[in-house]
Amino acid sequence: MPTKQVSLTVNGQKRTGQAEPRTLLSYFIREELGLTGTHIGCIVGRCGACSVVLNGKVVKSCMVFAQQAEGADLLTIEGLAEGPKLHPIQEAFWEHHGLQCGYCTPGMILTTLDLLNDNPDPTEEEIREGISGNLCMCTGYVNIVESVKAAADKMGRSRRKPSPSRRSRRSERPAS
Ligand code: FES
Ligand code: FES
Repeated sequence: MPTKQVSLTVNGQKRTGQAEPRTLLSYFIREELGLTGTHIGCIVGRCGACSVVLNGKVVKSCMVFAQQAEGADLLTIEGLAEGPKLHPIQEAFWEHHGLQCGYCTPGMILTTLDLLNDNPDPTEEEIREGISGNLCMCTGYVNIVESVKAAADKMGRSRRKPSPSRRSRRSERPAS
């Protein structure tokens, strides 16, 4: 089948690759772009292992053709950390044992990112609903839910941190 060039922004960088009309985005990400953090499970949209953020919303990449991503903005798990510094959601999963084998984890973390962008302070019920499209065969979900709560807390704290300019103004105040 003839291939077509697909150009998109991946984790902030312009990337191109070749895709047949039938190539799924999940395979394109792994095989053309070499980003193997996006996992493949069911290939029918049920498990969520292949979840990525496409144009700001989480999608199951096995449900999207690669050619449909032309010109898109794609975030995969490889784009979440800033160099050696883990994203607060990654830290929370690490600290609260939100993973065992790790197969579901990239999709679970990107789904959490989407959930917390929409709802920064979710209830446990909202967390369970938010991650219900992502299956985990190992953890029983308890630690994943704890991790999402902790991530919400960390991200809320970082949003509440005073900006450097406010901090420096405060430190300039004379001691009373
Ligand atoms: Fe895409 Fe399972 S591999 S949802
Ligand atoms: Fe193994 Fe979720 S940690 S499938």
